[in-house]
Amino acid sequence: MAFTFFFRDLPPLEHAVRHVVPAVAGRSKIKIWDAGAAMGQEPYTLAILLAEAMNQFAFKNLKIYTTDIEETFGQLIKDGIYPENELQRIPRDLFEKYFKGNCKAGHFQLDEKIRGTIVHQHHDLLSLQAIGADFCLIVCKNVLLHFQQSQRIEVIKMFHTALSPGGFIVTEHTQKMPQECEHLFEQVVPDAQLFRKVQA
Ligand SMILES: C[S@@+](CC[C@H](N)C(=O)[O-])C[C@H]1O[C@@H](n2cnc3c(N)ncnc32)[C@H](O)[C@@H]1O
Repeated sequence: MAFTFFFRDLPPLEHAVRHVVPAVAGRSKIKIWDAGAAMGQEPYTLAILLAEAMNQFAFKNLKIYTTDIEETFGQLIKDGIYPENELQRIPRDLFEKYFKGNCKAGHFQLDEKIRGTIVHQHHDLLSLQAIGADFCLIVCKNVLLHFQQSQRIEVIKMFHTALSPGGFIVTEHTQKMPQECEHLFEQVVPDAQLFRKVQA
């Protein structure tokens, strides 16, 4: 099982939401890619933050495409059912708003509105084939650190191609942008690994 949890390393996700929401205002399709999404805790955290930050019309146009190399995670993400002890970090008001009990003893299921934003597929980042194009945000946290530097550079270049103009990428705070990719992105905030695509 991959290590992950709800509301993990929140600041970069909060910064991303703050920048992405105004940037996508008026778009009929809002596409986000969470690459290395594990069992869904991170993309569902993002979906909750976006549900809080977006108006209902914009939220209906949102899809979060999740991918992971581990094939068994797809059904877990689709079900959106998690044991109660994994949900302690979620602020109480958001937990009560977005989770429902009674699906399975000791478990809670994410609200249909939140589950409906997620589209999952099995995918190996090292194939260097993007799952699509025109993403306004790509989240790839705690994945790149497992790759060799040359692989990291190629994956980040692939992300650059998959982003829409001015799109954003989020990595974990220990992940520095490789020098070979610095011309492709600008750092948006000094204290978080949130970058905006610039045309190379
Ligand atoms: C530590 S978890 C990170 C989960 C989540 N992003 C987070 O930060 O909480 C790393 C995830 O990356 C996935 N992964 C590892 N290598 C991958 C690859 N080549 N392509 C896609 N996913 C990969 C693992 O299966 C695992 O689910």
